[in-house]
Amino acid sequence: MFNKLCIIGVGLIGGSVAKAARANGLAHHIVGYGREQDVVNLQTAKQLGVIDEFYIDDIKHAVQNADCVLIATPVASIEAIFQQLKPVWSADTIYTDVGSTKVSVLAAAERVFGDIPDNVVAAHPIAGAEQSGVEAALVDLFIHKRLIITPASHTNAEAVQKIKQFWQGFGALVSVMDAQHHDSILAATSHLPHILAFALVDMLGHKDEKTEIFKYAAGGFRDFTRIASSDPTMWKDICAANKQEILPLIEQLRAELAKIHGLLANDDYQQLFSTFAYANSARQRFLNQFEVPIMSKSITFHIQNGGKLQGEARVPGDKSMSHRSIMLGSLAEGVTHVKGFLEAEDALATLQAFRDMSVEIEDPVNGELTIHGVGKHGLKAPKNDLYLGNSGTSMRLLSGLLAGQPFNSVLTGDKSLSGRPMKRVTEPLALMGADIKTTEKGTAPLYITGKAGQLNGIDYVMPMASAQVKSCLILAGMYAQGATSVTEPAPTRDHTERMLAGFSYPVKQEGSKVTVTADGKLTAADIDVPSDISSAAFFLVGASIAEGSDLLLKHVGINPTRTGVIDILRLMGANIEVLNEREVGGEPVADLRVRSSQLKGIDIPEHLVPLAIDEFPVLFVAAACAEGQTRLSGAEELRVKESDRIQVMADGLQILGVDAVPTEDGMIIQGGGNIGGGTVTSHGDHRIAMAFSIAGLRASAPITVLDCANVNTSFPEFKDLVKRLGLDLVCEES
Ligand code: S3P
Repeated sequence: MFNKLCIIGVGLIGGSVAKAARANGLAHHIVGYGREQDVVNLQTAKQLGVIDEFYIDDIKHAVQNADCVLIATPVASIEAIFQQLKPVWSADTIYTDVGSTKVSVLAAAERVFGDIPDNVVAAHPIAGAEQSGVEAALVDLFIHKRLIITPASHTNAEAVQKIKQFWQGFGALVSVMDAQHHDSILAATSHLPHILAFALVDMLGHKDEKTEIFKYAAGGFRDFTRIASSDPTMWKDICAANKQEILPLIEQLRAELAKIHGLLANDDYQQLFSTFAYANSARQRFLNQFEVPIMSKSITFHIQNGGKLQGEARVPGDKSMSHRSIMLGSLAEGVTHVKGFLEAEDALATLQAFRDMSVEIEDPVNGELTIHGVGKHGLKAPKNDLYLGNSGTSMRLLSGLLAGQPFNSVLTGDKSLSGRPMKRVTEPLALMGADIKTTEKGTAPLYITGKAGQLNGIDYVMPMASAQVKSCLILAGMYAQGATSVTEPAPTRDHTERMLAGFSYPVKQEGSKVTVTADGKLTAADIDVPSDISSAAFFLVGASIAEGSDLLLKHVGINPTRTGVIDILRLMGANIEVLNEREVGGEPVADLRVRSSQLKGIDIPEHLVPLAIDEFPVLFVAAACAEGQTRLSGAEELRVKESDRIQVMADGLQILGVDAVPTEDGMIIQGGGNIGGGTVTSHGDHRIAMAFSIAGLRASAPITVLDCANVNTSFPEFKDLVKRLGLDLVCEES
């Protein structure tokens, strides 16, 4: 791309640019330039092949015919470099730099040239290491790192574009902004932390000389002070160059420390906890940015065919109840302790959303957490969009709750969630007076204008059997004038109603109609979340289809609005015993013993569809193993789940040699148990990934399931548990 690239200052950064430019074919000939004192470094650079040639104190020849000159010296020296360049300046060359402050670099150019030349493109790669010198240079230093270009208003656009492409060429993430904005951001997130690290080690270093405290310092101290190993001269120069931005930040930090000092001195541990908890969640927000590449890390399950499931297991907590425990616990007055909470991405997205609305939630650890309820009117405006990942339940329920709050909010989600229908909630909410904007397609992001005190109750007959829509309207109804009633066309899960009753909130149930009003408050109540029957379903089917299986699933929630999977499997001839039935916290619970049996195909009764709505992916696998035909209809809702579960399951089953014909609202499967091997994709749908893994128990050859990362949304332990119980599954991350 550049025929001749001249690098002034071939240290860690300059050397890394040279290496990356060469490795990516972005510079044909690379020349180094330095002063007398740089000679050894430049010789080394040449010996290492980082540069092709170098010049000492002869800037004229160094830059002659260069199409790009890159200044990689400390910020304090850049004005002197511009002075040296002035007599040999060329309008055909692009001059760029890598300095950590940008206002000072542009000001230096202005002082030397009278105005900032239009071929100066100031830039800053946000990457580095504590080491210095060309030996430390790294070819991959800038991959996935931010690079900020700060052009002046009159900077040549073509030159900016070239510098942008140059950095993008070796994997940097390029942004363009004005120099002042750059400096204020960097002052806060780079310069201030360096000052803090230097200050702490300065103070403690003096103590150490007297009392050897460092001898006992461990990882926390090492992590916090890593950047105090950086070059002191360079950091002195950076601080000097950006002092305007840094000084007010030091004042703010002083005030923050004074606040913490005051809280401690006054034993105000509640506020101290709030401060730490806010910082903890803010840091998580920072880390989440890096999660994007990690989450998009692909996970593949390799399943060796055969095996049987034996032993005892307790699958993780119920997802629907875990979401609701956070929501209602947050709105309650008092402290709610939750046991059995599902520590998986979906429920954690709800938890994070409530932390973002200033609810203190301690832990979770081993499924236990504590919610310091803020009361029905105690939520605070989130500072940022609420990101709900893959979780439809979080988004739909929150839309109802947030419609009547005294603040605005924005709900976002991942690719799958951003494609799922939201009109089913926004339309009835609009009838209540809510103001929620969606995309043209009726999908997220949802832009919610809070209408506190302005919602009106409605009497709504749901067009589809959806617990999420019902729960959304119940939550909105708790903030509406008058009564809000929802009638469902068929029974759906009633965890919201049960848990509200558990929190002493009045809920009226008359047949298929549920009614709430705003008159009432939630009183904190402890919650024991049972195991999720939707996660147990994989094992109910697995043990049924794999000969010789005998499995005991402990403490499973058997709420009658959720047990369709047991009913359907029993109609197919499964051997499932419901043992030790009891009630825990208002929800029925039992242990389920399942032994293998020869299943037979059936026409699935339509009234069972909403009661087993999440279990169809694995029920299709059961149907493939059954004698005869299984027919499902009335299940069009499956088309709008985390994936189109009718199409995706039919495609995968066909790849495995199963005669599976998708219909508009279900599927027709000819059973017989002849499942072959092959590679199928889950399309990022957790339940599809687990269903095809279970198919491996009866397959005649190995099965590979692609795109399984989202198993973490509902059942992170799946791969380990299924292995322990008898399925040979290997998880490959790439
Ligand atoms: C859920 C309701 C169901 C279900 C989802 C969880 C809930 O969705 O599929 O996994 O917690 O309310 P629908 O309401 O869309 O049927």
